[in-house]
Amino acid sequence: MTAMLDVSYIIPSWATGSSSEPYNVLLIGAGNVNFGSDEGPWNHSYRLEQKLGSRLRVVAVIDPLLDRTDAVLAKKRASFVKSAYEGTKAYKDIVEFAKQMTPEDKPKLIVIGSPADTRGSDVPGKDLELQLIGLLPGIPLFIEKPIAAGEIPRAFRVAKSIEESQVLCSAGYMLRYLKAVQMMKQIIRENNLTVMSTIACYACAYEQILKPDWWNKELSGGPVIEQGTHFCDLSRYFGGDVDIDSVQAHAVGWDEAPGKLSKIGIDESKIEPVNRIPRVTTANWKYKNGAVGTFTHLVALQGKTYACEIEVYCDGYLLKLVDPYNAPVLRVRRPGSDAEEVHTFEGDDPFFSEISNFIDVIDHGPQAAEILSSFEDACKTYELTWAIRLASERSSTYKK
Ligand SMILES: NC(=O)c1ccc[n+]([C@@H]2O[C@H](COP(=O)([O-])OP(=O)(O)OC[C@H]3O[C@@H](n4cnc5c(N)ncnc54)[C@H](O)[C@@H]3O)[C@@H](O)[C@H]2O)c1
Repeated sequence: MTAMLDVSYIIPSWATGSSSEPYNVLLIGAGNVNFGSDEGPWNHSYRLEQKLGSRLRVVAVIDPLLDRTDAVLAKKRASFVKSAYEGTKAYKDIVEFAKQMTPEDKPKLIVIGSPADTRGSDVPGKDLELQLIGLLPGIPLFIEKPIAAGEIPRAFRVAKSIEESQVLCSAGYMLRYLKAVQMMKQIIRENNLTVMSTIACYACAYEQILKPDWWNKELSGGPVIEQGTHFCDLSRYFGGDVDIDSVQAHAVGWDEAPGKLSKIGIDESKIEPVNRIPRVTTANWKYKNGAVGTFTHLVALQGKTYACEIEVYCDGYLLKLVDPYNAPVLRVRRPGSDAEEVHTFEGDDPFFSEISNFIDVIDHGPQAAEILSSFEDACKTYELTWAIRLASERSSTYKK
């Protein structure tokens, strides 16, 4: 989506070596979301380094692929942030870590970046959150999207367990933390507006998507559940809860004339026809308050940059957010003028803000910052994305 992060600028506390109490973090998953890749700007370890400076101490990385953990740790240890990773241990699973954990290694924060089918469920083996609540009670959990890969009621059961355990929890819908998104919220709040409609469009650049699993909806859930979820979540952030029974959708299948793509970078013939992903999915629904939402996801663009935008309409107002991933621009039309105000947000990094806010809440309580995406709320986004997939499959040649 964008190039690798530029980590060349120096974080003051690394440079000076000034340090107070270590801040123990446990990372689950040694993959792209936790350690970065050239797929996009996500990289939680980098944001933790930015936020915590030389206080950061990554106590362990949990990943069944020990070689992958070794490789990411070797890279960190060869860089200026090495002190955070010098003592990092590698474990295949969380049970092993909990058995071996010394009091000095107890994490203050757990960042979960393992695939969705390892979590969000009460089925053994897919119940990471429940395991963590049992083995490491009370330790705050940051959990990536989508919040689950299995049955929706099971995800809501996990939400209930998290709530009952009173563990702090934040879900990885980082676009909510964009300054542009917060400005949209502020305009709605200050002018006492009611959202009438959300119109969202997410077109990915498919040429760069080289993970075979992504192209297999049996494994990824499909592009709306795996990727479009961010814009379904943003739609819900503005429109509120969705009447799930109202969701309607259509898709362009891989086997239809408009679904033929010329630059797929993986061998799609190895994926069962029934599991190949749709090229376009378009959906509409009613929000519970009576407003309406529409969303279109496209696997259509080549090159690198995604084309994503969301419009929010209220009486007299159009709030239009363009390119939230790379260079967010907010266009605002208000009553009294047909002209649009244009707001830009130089250097805004929602991945940093979501981690930073969570750490501020952990350290200083809810008066210091706000968690904008709860586990239960993320379950509702998961539910919406499944409703879109199922509705679109009703009119498709290949159904699940
Ligand atoms: N918020 C965002 O923009 C964003 C961006 C990228 C990925 N993600 C999400 O993050 C999650 C991980 O994606 P990724 O791109 O890092 O995938 P990845 O395949 O690059 O990495 C996942 C890692 O988790 C490991 N793993 C598998 N089972 C495990 C288990 N039980 N315990 C611990 N580790 C386990 C795998 O071996 C792998 O190394 C997905 O849910 C994805 O949707 C979110």
